[in-house]
Amino acid sequence: MLVCLIVSDLVPRVPGLCYGADYNPEQWPEQIWPEDAKLMRQAGVNLATVGVFAWAMLEPAPGRYEFGWLDRVLDTLHAAGVAVDLATATAAPPPWFSHAHPGAMPVDGDGRRLTYGSRQTFCPSSPAYREAALALAERLADRYADHPALAMWHVHNEYGCHNARCYCDTTAAAFRDWLADRYGGELAALNEAWGTAFWSQRYTAWEQVQPPRATTTIPNPGQVLDFHRFSSDALLRLFRAERDLLHARTPGVPVTTNMMNGGFTALDYWRWAGELDLLSNDHYIVADAPVEPGAQIAYAGDLTRSLAGGAPWLLLEHSTSAVNWQPRNLAKAPGELIRHSLAHVARGSEGALFFQWRASGAGAEKWHSAMLPHAGTGTKIWRDVTALGGHLRRLAEIAGSTVRAEVALLLDYPSGWAAEGTSQPSVDMTTFEEIRRWHAVLWRDGITTDLAHPGQDLAGYRLVLAPALYLLDDTAAANLSAYVAGGGTLVVGPYSGVVDEHDRVRLGGYPGALRDLLGIVVEELFPLPAGAAVRLDDGSTGRVWTEHARAVNATVVASYVDGPVAGRPAVTRRTAGSGTAWYLGTRLPDADLGRLLSTAGATPLLPAAPAQLEAVHRAHPDGRGYLFLINHGRDAATVTGAGTDLLTGTEHDGQVPVPGGGVVVLRVAAGDG
Ligand code: GAL
Repeated sequence: MLVCLIVSDLVPRVPGLCYGADYNPEQWPEQIWPEDAKLMRQAGVNLATVGVFAWAMLEPAPGRYEFGWLDRVLDTLHAAGVAVDLATATAAPPPWFSHAHPGAMPVDGDGRRLTYGSRQTFCPSSPAYREAALALAERLADRYADHPALAMWHVHNEYGCHNARCYCDTTAAAFRDWLADRYGGELAALNEAWGTAFWSQRYTAWEQVQPPRATTTIPNPGQVLDFHRFSSDALLRLFRAERDLLHARTPGVPVTTNMMNGGFTALDYWRWAGELDLLSNDHYIVADAPVEPGAQIAYAGDLTRSLAGGAPWLLLEHSTSAVNWQPRNLAKAPGELIRHSLAHVARGSEGALFFQWRASGAGAEKWHSAMLPHAGTGTKIWRDVTALGGHLRRLAEIAGSTVRAEVALLLDYPSGWAAEGTSQPSVDMTTFEEIRRWHAVLWRDGITTDLAHPGQDLAGYRLVLAPALYLLDDTAAANLSAYVAGGGTLVVGPYSGVVDEHDRVRLGGYPGALRDLLGIVVEELFPLPAGAAVRLDDGSTGRVWTEHARAVNATVVASYVDGPVAGRPAVTRRTAGSGTAWYLGTRLPDADLGRLLSTAGATPLLPAAPAQLEAVHRAHPDGRGYLFLINHGRDAATVTGAGTDLLTGTEHDGQVPVPGGGVVVLRVAAGDG
C-alpha cells in the first residue's frame, strides 16, 4: 500500500484535513475554556477560528488593548493540539467607536443613516474605521506573530455581508476618485460611458457625480453598475490593507477572508480571488431555495474551487444543524451534517469548520446550532460531530488532492449586476439564479462543473456554458470566439452578449458581441408573460423569454411551434473553426436543458449512477485518486466500482453499496473513477 505524505500545504501548520469551528470564548466564563479544549480534543478538532467578534474585548477603550485573555485562550488551545485561525476582529466595531465617529456609520440608498447595535456597522470608505481597524490588526499581528498556535489569519469576516454598499458623502467622494481613475480623469469619458445625453444627465463637474441614491424614477444604469464595481473594490482595499500589514509582520502565515459563495453576489470575487493566500468559504443551506441542498453545496464548492484556480480551499463555516436567520430554520437529520461536510470536501475543501463551537446562550444567534449544542454532549449533534472528526482523520491522505472538471459555467458578476438592474425587458431574466439552475441540472446528471470567468483561458474545458451573459466586453467576446475556433463547444443562453462593459447596447442586432460566432441575428426580444410557456418542434418547452431570430450562418436545431414568434429559430448550432457554438433563445426547463447539454457533450463521471447519488473524483498530481460517493437519497444505492472505503476500511470489488444518506470514499487506482 502506498504510504503518502499527509500534509496539506494549504494550512502548513495543520497536518491532514482541518476540523473545527469559530470559537468565541469571550461569550463564556473562563472556567469553561479548559472544558472546551478537552471536548475539542475528543471531537478531533485541530483548528479554531478565534476572535472574529472580539474587538470590544480586545480594545475596550480607544488605544487601550487587553490581550491577556486572548493569550490564555491561545495557550489553552495550543496545549490541546488545536491550531488557531486568528481573526483580526475588525468586522464589528465596538459602541465606543461608533459613538465617537457617527460619520462612519453606513447610509442606505434612501439616505437613512444606520446605527450600531449589530455588526459591520461602518462605511467601507470611512477613514476613521480604516484607521481603527488597521491599528487593531497591527497590534494583534505584533502580539501573536510568534505564538505557536497561530496557523493562519482570518481577516475581518464575510466582507460586505451587511454593508456592501454605502451611500454617504464620504463614499461619494471615494466613488468620484474611483471614477476619475477609471475614466482617466475625463468627465467626457464618464458621460459617454453612462450615456448621460439621455434625460439631461450630463455632468459638467466632478463634484456633481454622486452614488445612485434614491431618486424619482429609474436611475442611470451605467452609474449603478460602476457603483457596484466601486463598492466591491472599496471593501477589497480594506482587505488588502489588513493583508499587507499581516504579510509584513508574520511572513509565511497564510491570510484568508471567508467568502460567501452560494447566494451572495454583491462582490466581484474574481477580482478578490488572486489577493488571498488561501481561498475559504462559508456556506449555509437555504431551506426555500429553488435547488436542493446537495446542489447548493456542490455549487458553493465548485465556485470556491474555481476561484482558487482549481487548488484546494477550506470550508470555514457551515452549520451542524439549524441556522437562525431564515423564516423557518430547519434542523438537520442524523448523519446530515456528516454528509454535508463531506460533500464540501469532495469538491476540494481541505476539511470542514462550523459556525460555531459552543452554541451561544444569548445574543442574536442563540438559536443557531453549533458543534456543542445547548443540550451538551449526550446529543445527536455531538455524536455526529465526533463521528465526523474520525472520518476527517481517516481521510487525511486526500489533503492536497484536487478536482478536475471538463465543463465550465461562465459567471461574471458585473454582467449579473447589470442584467438584474431596473428597467430590463423582463424581471424573470435572472442571472445568478439561472447559473445556479444550470449547475444544478448538471449536478443531478452527475457532471462535475467549474465556474469560469469569460475572459480566462478556457482551453482546458471540453464544454463551456454561458447561461446568462448579458454584458460582455470585447476581450471576453474574442476569448469565447478563440475557444470555439480552437475546438471547444460553447452553449450560450438567451440575452447574452447584448451590451458592452458600460451596459451600452451593441447595435446592429442581438446577441451583439456573439452574433457572428453564433451565426444568428435577433431583431426583437419577446419576453413571455408570467408563467407562460411555448412549444418547440423538438418536443421541448420554452419559458420566460423568446426572440425573433434569423439564422444567418447556423443550423436551426429547433423552432417555436407557438407563442409570439412561432416558426422562428429557438435553438441553433454553428460549426466555427474546429468547434461548435450553440444558442438557446429561450429558457428550457430542467429536463429539456439536461437533454440539450448532454447532446452538446456533457458526460457524467459515472454513467448510470442512481438518482441522488453524487459522485466526485479527487486526485493527487501523481494519480492517486479518491471517489466520493454521496447518497442524498433515503434509500441505499449501489454503484459499480472497486477500492478501499477510507471511512470504514472495507474493500470493495465490483459492487459498492452506499447507505441512504451515507457517504463512501473509495481510494481508487490511478485513473479510475
Ligand atoms: C455567517 C457569519 C457568522 C454567523 C453565521 C450564522 O454569515 O460569518 O458569524 O453569523 O453566518 O449562520
